[in-house]
Amino acid sequence: MILITGGAGFIGGNFVHHWFSRSDEPVVVLDKLTYAGNPLTIAAHLKSGRATLAKADICDREAVRGLLQQHRPRAVLHFAAESHVDRSIHGPGEFIQTNMVGTFSLLEETRAYWSALAGDEKAAFRFLHVSTDEVYGSLSETDPAFSETTPYAPNSPYSASKAGSDHLVRAYHHTYGLPTLTTNCSNNYGPYHFPEKLIPLMILNALDGKPLPVYGDGQNIRDWLYVRDHCEAICQVLQKGRLGETYNVGGKNEVKNIDVVTTICRKLDALRPKAGGARYEEQITYVADRPGHDRRYAIDPRKIEREIGWRPAETFDSGIDQTVRWYLENTEWIDSVRTGAYRDWMDTNYAAR
Ligand code: NAD
Ligand code: DAU
Repeated sequence: MILITGGAGFIGGNFVHHWFSRSDEPVVVLDKLTYAGNPLTIAAHLKSGRATLAKADICDREAVRGLLQQHRPRAVLHFAAESHVDRSIHGPGEFIQTNMVGTFSLLEETRAYWSALAGDEKAAFRFLHVSTDEVYGSLSETDPAFSETTPYAPNSPYSASKAGSDHLVRAYHHTYGLPTLTTNCSNNYGPYHFPEKLIPLMILNALDGKPLPVYGDGQNIRDWLYVRDHCEAICQVLQKGRLGETYNVGGKNEVKNIDVVTTICRKLDALRPKAGGARYEEQITYVADRPGHDRRYAIDPRKIEREIGWRPAETFDSGIDQTVRWYLENTEWIDSVRTGAYRDWMDTNYAAR
């Protein structure tokens, strides 16, 4: 069986779905269930008994130790993190705690567990760390895309804390021989994405008739990857990745923020037309920029293509179409995440912009 931290979040939850589309191997999800974790995302697999949910903090070493001893996983897949850049600007402390101290705690307990394994079990064990392209910093329009040898230059408390966690993982392989793998992926989108991030926020604000808040001049570029393509990349790296290596994951889908937003608006015009022929684009509002806003991200995926043979299945067009339709159809999940705490965050981040 495998242990997944953060498996009730956006990518971890999609990973659980993806895993059971290709395997019967059971999964234990270790998740603190912060505002971003939602058991509803994986409810079908919890109900079937193939997945088990343990509510715990990765910083709680005793809890982590207990779960490793009880379930004896053949791999730990580490998704758990505080993941939203804007929240890291308003309150960096939680990011340092979970992303750095939490990863350290998890590494220590995993090292102790792995050290006590023997023979084939020890040789087959893997610790896969899920990270981000944001650790590389910001590109100009003409810079080459991020490769695995691009120097780290994180610019936000979030990306700095992820960079710190990547360095710890690297050190645990180099120093202790822990069999690690690291993936650095670009921006994901798709079902179960918490609506504080650009794409789900724009879909839901558009449907609610609210402003669509584009930061700065809207010309920042992100390299979008459909979440299930990322999940498949993780499965393949787990299976075929070289120990101690890092793999950049991206879909060669660089899009300017304003073009992401207008694409969503046009999809909604077609799928859920507004009364009187009004267009969703009329709700677009330029607002104050994010402090330290990275201009452009782009991934050079040649290493994972060459060594692992992974390639994305979705284009941005096909992925965004599925995503918009998913948000139109899954009102129960959407209602379950738009709590009072969500409304407080919207005030904190947008009221003074
Ligand atoms: P998310 O915020 O949607 O989910 C994070 C999950 O981790 C939640 O279920 C939350 O409850 C859990 N969690 C948070 N703190 C915890 C703690 N201390 N102990 C246990 N569980 C805790 O995040 P996501 O977008 O699914 O990202 C998952 C991982 O992928 C993160 O490591 C992130 O840095 C990385 N990543 C994200 C993207 C992206 O575009 N979203 C891209 C590349 C990499
Ligand atoms: O690159 C990978 C990263 O992608 C992950 O590591 C992060 O966990 C994930 O949150 C994401 O970070 P971004 O900051 O790129 O994603 P976000 O959805 O917050 O913003 C995408 C772009 O849209 C960014 O340029 C900021 C802009 N934006 C965002 C919001 C929420 C707006 O213009 N308006 C908004 O309201």
